Amino acid sequence: MKIIRADTYTIFIGEDAFEELALFFRNPDIRNEKIIVLVDENSKKYCLPLLKEKVELFNKATILEVKSGEENKNIQTCVELWHYLLKVKATRKSILVNLGGGVITDMGGFVASTFKRGMRFINIPTTLLAQVDSSIGGKVGVNLFEIKNQIGVFLNPEAVFIVPPFINTLPESERLSGLAEMLKHALIMDNNYWDSIKRKPFFEITEWESLIIRSIEIKNSVARNDPYEKSLRKRLNFGHTIGHAFESLALRKAGKPPLPHGVAVAMGIICEAYLSTKIRGLPEGARDSINDYILANFPYYPVAKKDHPRVIEIIKHDKKHTGEGINFTLIPSIGNALIDQYCDERLVLDSLVFYSSLS
Ligand SMILES: NC(=O)c1ccc[n+]([C@@H]2O[C@H](COP(=O)([O-])OP(=O)(O)OC[C@H]3O[C@@H](n4cnc5c(N)ncnc54)[C@H](O)[C@@H]3O)[C@@H](O)[C@H]2O)c1
Repeated sequence: MKIIRADTYTIFIGEDAFEELALFFRNPDIRNEKIIVLVDENSKKYCLPLLKEKVELFNKATILEVKSGEENKNIQTCVELWHYLLKVKATRKSILVNLGGGVITDMGGFVASTFKRGMRFINIPTTLLAQVDSSIGGKVGVNLFEIKNQIGVFLNPEAVFIVPPFINTLPESERLSGLAEMLKHALIMDNNYWDSIKRKPFFEITEWESLIIRSIEIKNSVARNDPYEKSLRKRLNFGHTIGHAFESLALRKAGKPPLPHGVAVAMGIICEAYLSTKIRGLPEGARDSINDYILANFPYYPVAKKDHPRVIEIIKHDKKHTGEGINFTLIPSIGNALIDQYCDERLVLDSLVFYSSLS
Protein backbone atom coordinates (compact mmCIF):
# COMPACT_ATOMS: atom_id res chain seq x y z
CA MET A 1 0.00 0.00 0.00
CA LYS A 2 1.15 3.52 -0.75
CA ILE A 3 0.67 6.19 1.92
CA ILE A 4 0.80 9.86 0.96
CA ARG A 5 0.66 12.61 3.57
CA ALA A 6 -1.44 15.60 2.72
CA ASP A 7 -1.42 18.71 4.94
CA THR A 8 -3.93 17.66 7.62
CA TYR A 9 -4.82 14.12 6.55
CA THR A 10 -3.48 10.92 5.01
CA ILE A 11 -4.23 9.27 1.67
CA PHE A 12 -4.07 5.46 1.63
CA ILE A 13 -3.81 3.83 -1.81
CA GLY A 14 -4.12 0.13 -2.61
CA GLU A 15 -6.41 -2.82 -1.94
CA ASP A 16 -5.24 -2.96 1.66
CA ALA A 17 -6.60 0.56 2.19
CA PHE A 18 -9.64 -1.36 3.51
CA GLU A 19 -7.54 -2.45 6.49
CA GLU A 20 -6.57 1.15 7.20
CA LEU A 21 -10.23 2.09 6.92
CA ALA A 22 -11.17 -0.49 9.56
CA LEU A 23 -8.36 0.84 11.78
CA PHE A 24 -9.56 4.41 11.29
CA PHE A 25 -12.95 3.49 12.73
CA ARG A 26 -11.33 1.83 15.74
CA ASN A 27 -10.02 5.22 16.83
CA PRO A 28 -11.63 5.91 20.26
CA ASP A 29 -12.68 9.35 19.11
CA ILE A 30 -14.72 7.84 16.27
CA ARG A 31 -15.75 4.29 17.05
CA ASN A 32 -19.00 5.09 18.85
CA GLU A 33 -20.13 7.82 16.51
CA LYS A 34 -22.85 7.61 13.89
CA ILE A 35 -21.59 6.64 10.42
CA ILE A 36 -23.52 7.86 7.41
CA VAL A 37 -22.50 6.67 3.95
CA LEU A 38 -23.38 8.92 1.03
CA VAL A 39 -23.81 7.02 -2.23
CA ASP A 40 -25.50 7.35 -5.59
CA GLU A 41 -27.30 4.43 -7.21
CA ASN A 42 -24.11 3.27 -8.97
CA SER A 43 -21.70 3.43 -6.05
CA LYS A 44 -24.43 1.76 -3.98
CA LYS A 45 -24.70 -1.06 -6.49
CA TYR A 46 -21.05 -1.53 -7.43
CA CYS A 47 -19.03 -0.42 -4.39
CA LEU A 48 -21.09 -0.57 -1.20
CA PRO A 49 -21.32 -4.41 -1.15
CA LEU A 50 -17.51 -4.74 -1.24
CA LEU A 51 -17.14 -2.09 1.44
CA LYS A 52 -19.58 -3.97 3.67
CA GLU A 53 -17.79 -7.23 3.01
CA LYS A 54 -14.34 -5.82 3.79
CA VAL A 55 -15.22 -3.59 6.74
CA GLU A 56 -17.86 -5.16 8.96
CA LEU A 57 -19.05 -1.98 10.69
CA PHE A 58 -20.48 -0.61 7.43
CA ASN A 59 -23.24 -3.19 7.73
CA LYS A 60 -24.68 -1.05 10.52
CA ALA A 61 -24.08 2.33 8.88
CA THR A 62 -26.90 4.61 7.74
CA ILE A 63 -27.00 4.79 3.95
CA LEU A 64 -27.94 8.05 2.30
CA GLU A 65 -28.61 7.85 -1.44
CA VAL A 66 -28.81 10.62 -4.02
CA LYS A 67 -29.44 10.41 -7.73
CA SER A 68 -26.23 10.29 -9.75
CA GLY A 69 -25.22 13.01 -12.18
CA GLU A 70 -23.68 16.46 -12.44
CA GLU A 71 -27.15 17.95 -12.86
CA ASN A 72 -27.90 16.93 -9.25
CA LYS A 73 -24.78 18.56 -7.80
CA ASN A 74 -26.70 21.59 -6.60
CA ILE A 75 -28.13 23.34 -3.55
CA GLN A 76 -31.52 21.63 -3.86
CA THR A 77 -29.86 18.24 -3.35
CA CYS A 78 -27.83 19.69 -0.45
CA VAL A 79 -31.05 20.88 1.22
CA GLU A 80 -32.41 17.32 1.00
CA LEU A 81 -29.16 15.98 2.44
CA TRP A 82 -29.06 18.49 5.34
CA HIS A 83 -32.68 17.65 6.05
CA TYR A 84 -31.92 13.96 6.07
CA LEU A 85 -28.90 14.41 8.36
CA LEU A 86 -31.18 16.20 10.84
CA LYS A 87 -33.70 13.39 10.57
CA VAL A 88 -31.13 10.70 11.40
CA LYS A 89 -29.85 12.88 14.27
CA ALA A 90 -26.36 13.36 12.88
CA THR A 91 -24.13 15.55 15.01
CA ARG A 92 -20.88 17.36 14.40
CA LYS A 93 -19.05 14.28 15.66
CA SER A 94 -20.78 11.93 13.21
CA ILE A 95 -18.78 10.83 10.18
CA LEU A 96 -20.02 11.25 6.65
CA VAL A 97 -18.40 8.71 4.32
CA ASN A 98 -18.45 9.90 0.72
CA LEU A 99 -18.50 6.75 -1.39
CA GLY A 100 -18.68 7.67 -5.05
CA GLY A 101 -17.32 9.83 -7.83
CA GLY A 102 -16.46 13.51 -7.86
CA VAL A 103 -20.10 14.56 -7.58
CA ILE A 104 -20.41 12.65 -4.31
CA THR A 105 -17.04 13.79 -2.88
CA ASP A 106 -17.62 17.45 -3.88
CA MET A 107 -21.23 17.61 -2.68
CA GLY A 108 -20.78 15.34 0.35
CA GLY A 109 -17.78 17.37 1.48
CA PHE A 110 -19.75 20.59 1.10
CA VAL A 111 -22.78 19.24 2.95
CA ALA A 112 -20.54 18.00 5.77
CA SER A 113 -18.58 21.25 5.96
CA THR A 114 -21.74 23.29 6.46
CA PHE A 115 -23.94 20.95 8.54
CA LYS A 116 -24.01 22.30 12.10
CA ARG A 117 -20.96 24.38 11.12
CA GLY A 118 -18.98 21.34 10.12
CA MET A 119 -19.15 17.59 10.65
CA ARG A 120 -16.34 15.17 9.90
CA PHE A 121 -16.08 13.39 6.58
CA ILE A 122 -13.86 10.91 4.75
CA ASN A 123 -13.64 10.12 1.06
CA ILE A 124 -13.67 6.72 -0.59
CA PRO A 125 -13.55 7.71 -4.26
CA THR A 126 -14.87 5.16 -6.72
CA THR A 127 -14.25 6.77 -10.12
CA LEU A 128 -10.84 7.26 -11.67
CA LEU A 129 -11.40 11.02 -11.73
CA ALA A 130 -12.30 11.15 -8.06
CA GLN A 131 -9.34 8.91 -7.14
CA VAL A 132 -6.76 11.08 -8.89
CA ASP A 133 -8.31 14.47 -8.33
CA SER A 134 -11.57 15.50 -6.68
CA SER A 135 -11.25 13.45 -3.48
CA ILE A 136 -8.03 15.19 -2.47
CA GLY A 137 -7.07 18.82 -2.05
CA GLY A 138 -9.97 20.06 0.07
CA LYS A 139 -12.09 21.86 -2.53
CA VAL A 140 -15.75 21.00 -1.95
CA GLY A 141 -18.83 22.57 -3.45
CA VAL A 142 -21.76 22.52 -5.83
CA ASN A 143 -22.92 24.20 -9.05
CA LEU A 144 -25.21 27.22 -9.12
CA PHE A 145 -27.59 27.76 -12.07
CA GLU A 146 -25.47 25.40 -14.18
CA ILE A 147 -22.30 27.37 -13.48
CA LYS A 148 -19.74 24.99 -12.14
CA ASN A 149 -18.62 24.95 -8.51
CA GLN A 150 -19.80 28.47 -7.65
CA ILE A 151 -20.77 27.63 -4.07
CA GLY A 152 -18.24 25.92 -1.89
CA VAL A 153 -15.50 26.03 0.69
CA PHE A 154 -12.03 24.65 1.30
CA LEU A 155 -12.16 21.87 3.84
CA ASN A 156 -10.04 18.75 4.09
CA PRO A 157 -11.43 15.28 4.72
CA GLU A 158 -10.25 13.37 7.80
CA ALA A 159 -8.67 10.78 5.48
CA VAL A 160 -8.93 9.41 1.95
CA PHE A 161 -8.99 5.69 1.13
CA ILE A 162 -8.31 4.84 -2.51
CA VAL A 163 -9.00 1.33 -3.72
CA PRO A 164 -8.01 1.25 -7.42
CA PRO A 165 -10.08 -1.88 -8.31
CA PHE A 166 -13.26 0.12 -7.68
CA ILE A 167 -12.72 1.55 -11.15
CA ASN A 168 -13.17 -1.90 -12.73
CA THR A 169 -16.94 -1.47 -12.90
CA LEU A 170 -16.77 2.03 -14.36
CA PRO A 171 -18.07 2.49 -17.89
CA GLU A 172 -15.18 3.11 -20.27
CA SER A 173 -16.34 6.69 -20.86
CA GLU A 174 -16.01 7.46 -17.15
CA ARG A 175 -12.53 5.96 -16.97
CA LEU A 176 -11.58 8.10 -19.93
CA SER A 177 -12.90 11.11 -18.06
CA GLY A 178 -10.42 10.44 -15.25
CA LEU A 179 -7.59 10.08 -17.73
CA ALA A 180 -8.06 13.73 -18.76
CA GLU A 181 -7.12 14.99 -15.29
CA MET A 182 -4.10 12.67 -15.36
CA LEU A 183 -3.01 14.16 -18.69
CA LYS A 184 -3.34 17.57 -17.13
CA HIS A 185 -1.15 16.55 -14.17
CA ALA A 186 1.51 15.36 -16.60
CA LEU A 187 1.31 18.40 -18.88
CA ILE A 188 1.69 20.91 -16.05
CA MET A 189 4.33 19.11 -13.98
CA ASP A 190 6.01 16.04 -15.39
CA ASN A 191 7.17 15.47 -18.95
CA ASN A 192 8.21 11.85 -18.15
CA TYR A 193 4.75 11.09 -16.81
CA TRP A 194 3.28 12.48 -20.05
CA ASP A 195 5.57 10.12 -22.01
CA SER A 196 4.46 7.15 -19.94
CA ILE A 197 0.75 7.96 -20.41
CA LYS A 198 0.94 8.48 -24.14
CA ARG A 199 3.00 5.34 -24.66
CA LYS A 200 -0.23 3.32 -24.90
CA PRO A 201 -3.66 4.12 -26.26
CA PHE A 202 -6.23 4.47 -23.50
CA PHE A 203 -7.93 1.12 -24.16
CA GLU A 204 -4.62 -0.73 -23.74
CA ILE A 205 -3.84 0.67 -20.27
CA THR A 206 -4.21 -2.08 -17.69
CA GLU A 207 -1.73 -0.98 -15.03
CA TRP A 208 -3.72 1.84 -13.48
CA GLU A 209 -2.39 1.84 -9.93
CA SER A 210 1.06 3.31 -10.66
CA LEU A 211 -0.50 6.04 -12.82
CA ILE A 212 -3.04 6.80 -10.10
CA ILE A 213 -0.25 7.13 -7.54
CA ARG A 214 1.79 9.53 -9.73
CA SER A 215 -1.24 11.72 -10.34
CA ILE A 216 -2.09 11.85 -6.64
CA GLU A 217 1.50 12.79 -5.83
CA ILE A 218 1.30 15.70 -8.27
CA LYS A 219 -2.17 16.89 -7.20
CA ASN A 220 -1.25 16.59 -3.53
CA SER A 221 2.06 18.43 -3.83
CA VAL A 222 0.41 21.33 -5.65
CA ALA A 223 -2.61 21.55 -3.33
CA ARG A 224 -0.54 21.11 -0.20
CA ASN A 225 1.76 24.03 -1.02
CA ASP A 226 -1.11 26.39 -1.77
CA PRO A 227 -4.27 25.02 -0.13
CA TYR A 228 -6.38 28.14 -0.71
CA GLU A 229 -5.39 28.62 -4.35
CA LYS A 230 -3.71 31.97 -3.79
CA SER A 231 -1.05 31.27 -6.39
CA LEU A 232 0.61 28.11 -7.69
CA ARG A 233 -2.40 25.83 -7.16
CA LYS A 234 -3.90 27.64 -10.13
CA ARG A 235 -1.62 25.41 -12.24
CA LEU A 236 -4.30 22.75 -11.79
CA ASN A 237 -6.69 24.96 -13.76
CA PHE A 238 -4.97 24.16 -17.05
CA GLY A 239 -7.70 23.08 -19.49
CA HIS A 240 -10.41 23.98 -17.00
CA THR A 241 -11.32 27.56 -17.93
CA ILE A 242 -12.61 26.59 -21.35
CA GLY A 243 -13.38 23.01 -20.23
CA HIS A 244 -15.76 24.25 -17.51
CA ALA A 245 -17.43 26.56 -20.03
CA PHE A 246 -18.05 23.60 -22.39
CA GLU A 247 -19.43 21.64 -19.44
CA SER A 248 -21.75 24.49 -18.45
CA LEU A 249 -22.84 24.90 -22.08
CA ALA A 250 -23.74 21.20 -22.18
CA LEU A 251 -25.70 21.51 -18.91
CA ARG A 252 -27.77 24.33 -20.43
CA LYS A 253 -28.81 22.21 -23.40
CA ALA A 254 -32.06 20.74 -22.14
CA GLY A 255 -32.63 17.14 -23.11
CA LYS A 256 -28.97 16.54 -24.01
CA PRO A 257 -26.72 14.44 -21.74
CA PRO A 258 -24.17 16.34 -19.63
CA LEU A 259 -20.62 16.41 -20.94
CA PRO A 260 -18.42 14.27 -18.63
CA HIS A 261 -16.09 16.56 -16.69
CA GLY A 262 -12.92 14.88 -17.93
CA VAL A 263 -13.98 14.98 -21.56
CA ALA A 264 -14.69 18.70 -21.12
CA VAL A 265 -11.21 19.15 -19.62
CA ALA A 266 -9.58 17.26 -22.50
CA MET A 267 -11.35 19.56 -24.98
CA GLY A 268 -10.35 22.56 -22.84
CA ILE A 269 -6.73 21.39 -22.96
CA ILE A 270 -6.84 21.53 -26.78
CA CYS A 271 -8.00 25.16 -26.67
CA GLU A 272 -5.63 26.19 -23.92
CA ALA A 273 -2.67 24.48 -25.61
CA TYR A 274 -3.54 26.67 -28.62
CA LEU A 275 -3.39 29.77 -26.37
CA SER A 276 -0.10 28.47 -24.91
CA THR A 277 1.39 28.33 -28.40
CA LYS A 278 0.08 31.79 -29.26
CA ILE A 279 1.32 33.69 -26.22
CA ARG A 280 3.75 31.48 -24.31
CA GLY A 281 5.74 29.78 -27.02
CA LEU A 282 4.58 26.19 -26.61
CA PRO A 283 6.12 24.65 -29.76
CA GLU A 284 3.54 23.76 -32.38
CA GLY A 285 4.93 20.21 -32.48
CA ALA A 286 4.23 19.78 -28.76
CA ARG A 287 0.74 21.25 -29.18
CA ASP A 288 0.03 18.89 -32.06
CA SER A 289 1.22 15.85 -30.10
CA ILE A 290 -1.18 16.82 -27.29
CA ASN A 291 -4.04 17.26 -29.76
CA ASP A 292 -3.23 14.00 -31.57
CA TYR A 293 -3.33 12.04 -28.32
CA ILE A 294 -6.57 13.64 -27.15
CA LEU A 295 -8.37 13.33 -30.48
CA ALA A 296 -7.29 9.70 -30.84
CA ASN A 297 -8.58 8.76 -27.40
CA PHE A 298 -11.45 11.11 -26.45
CA PRO A 299 -14.80 11.72 -28.14
CA TYR A 300 -14.75 15.15 -29.79
CA TYR A 301 -17.39 17.53 -28.36
CA PRO A 302 -18.68 19.76 -31.16
CA VAL A 303 -19.25 23.41 -30.26
CA ALA A 304 -21.14 25.27 -32.98
CA LYS A 305 -19.88 28.69 -34.09
CA LYS A 306 -23.14 30.26 -32.87
CA ASP A 307 -22.27 29.00 -29.34
CA HIS A 308 -18.82 30.64 -29.25
CA PRO A 309 -20.14 33.93 -27.77
CA ARG A 310 -22.03 31.92 -25.12
CA VAL A 311 -18.83 30.14 -24.19
CA ILE A 312 -17.11 33.51 -23.71
CA GLU A 313 -20.04 34.77 -21.60
CA ILE A 314 -19.87 31.69 -19.39
CA ILE A 315 -16.12 32.15 -18.89
CA LYS A 316 -16.69 35.78 -17.93
CA HIS A 317 -19.18 34.72 -15.27
CA ASP A 318 -16.64 32.30 -13.89
CA LYS A 319 -14.23 33.36 -11.17
CA LYS A 320 -11.31 33.35 -13.59
CA HIS A 321 -12.20 36.64 -15.30
CA THR A 322 -10.80 40.06 -14.23
CA GLY A 323 -10.53 43.50 -15.79
CA GLU A 324 -7.18 42.50 -17.33
CA GLY A 325 -8.82 39.80 -19.44
CA ILE A 326 -9.49 36.13 -18.97
CA ASN A 327 -7.11 34.45 -16.58
CA PHE A 328 -5.59 31.19 -17.79
CA THR A 329 -2.94 28.74 -16.75
CA LEU A 330 -0.83 28.04 -19.81
CA ILE A 331 2.09 25.73 -20.58
CA PRO A 332 5.26 27.14 -22.22
CA SER A 333 6.48 23.53 -22.59
CA ILE A 334 5.24 20.09 -21.63
CA GLY A 335 5.76 19.60 -17.89
CA ASN A 336 5.74 23.31 -16.99
CA ALA A 337 2.90 25.69 -16.27
CA LEU A 338 2.53 29.44 -15.84
CA ILE A 339 -0.35 30.89 -13.85
CA ASP A 340 -2.11 34.24 -14.33
CA GLN A 341 -1.75 34.46 -18.07
CA TYR A 342 -4.31 36.96 -19.35
CA CYS A 343 -5.87 36.61 -22.78
CA ASP A 344 -8.32 38.96 -24.41
CA GLU A 345 -11.66 37.73 -25.71
CA ARG A 346 -10.54 37.89 -29.35
CA LEU A 347 -7.75 35.38 -28.78
CA VAL A 348 -10.04 33.09 -26.81
CA LEU A 349 -12.51 33.20 -29.70
CA ASP A 350 -9.63 32.28 -32.04
CA SER A 351 -8.92 29.24 -29.89
CA LEU A 352 -12.58 28.18 -30.27
CA VAL A 353 -12.37 28.62 -34.05
CA PHE A 354 -9.17 26.53 -34.06
CA TYR A 355 -10.93 23.91 -31.91
CA SER A 356 -13.92 23.81 -34.27
CA SER A 357 -11.57 23.32 -37.22
CA LEU A 358 -10.44 19.99 -35.70
CA SER A 359 -13.89 18.40 -35.96
N1 LIG B 1 -12.93 19.18 -5.90
C1 LIG B 1 -12.04 19.08 -6.86
O1 LIG B 1 -10.86 19.43 -6.70
C2 LIG B 1 -12.47 18.52 -8.19
C3 LIG B 1 -11.50 18.22 -9.17
C4 LIG B 1 -11.93 17.65 -10.36
C5 LIG B 1 -13.28 17.41 -10.58
N2 LIG B 1 -14.19 17.74 -9.62
C6 LIG B 1 -15.62 17.47 -9.82
O2 LIG B 1 -15.81 16.07 -9.95
C7 LIG B 1 -17.04 15.85 -10.66
C8 LIG B 1 -16.85 14.76 -11.68
O3 LIG B 1 -16.49 13.56 -11.02
P1 LIG B 1 -16.75 12.13 -11.69
O4 LIG B 1 -16.22 12.14 -13.06
O5 LIG B 1 -16.27 11.13 -10.73
O6 LIG B 1 -18.34 12.09 -11.87
P2 LIG B 1 -19.53 11.36 -11.11
O7 LIG B 1 -19.42 11.46 -9.65
O8 LIG B 1 -20.78 11.88 -11.74
O9 LIG B 1 -19.34 9.82 -11.49
C9 LIG B 1 -19.47 9.42 -12.84
C10 LIG B 1 -20.46 8.26 -12.98
O10 LIG B 1 -19.86 7.07 -12.47
C11 LIG B 1 -20.77 6.41 -11.57
N3 LIG B 1 -19.94 5.61 -10.69
C12 LIG B 1 -19.23 6.01 -9.60
N4 LIG B 1 -18.47 5.02 -9.16
C13 LIG B 1 -18.71 3.94 -9.95
C14 LIG B 1 -18.18 2.61 -10.01
N5 LIG B 1 -17.19 2.23 -9.20
N6 LIG B 1 -18.67 1.79 -10.95
C15 LIG B 1 -19.63 2.19 -11.83
N7 LIG B 1 -20.12 3.44 -11.84
C16 LIG B 1 -19.66 4.30 -10.92
C17 LIG B 1 -21.54 7.54 -10.97
O11 LIG B 1 -22.75 7.10 -10.43
C18 LIG B 1 -21.75 8.44 -12.18
O12 LIG B 1 -22.82 7.96 -12.94
C19 LIG B 1 -17.43 17.17 -11.29
O13 LIG B 1 -18.52 17.68 -10.59
C20 LIG B 1 -16.20 18.04 -11.08
O14 LIG B 1 -16.51 19.40 -10.95
C21 LIG B 1 -13.80 18.28 -8.44
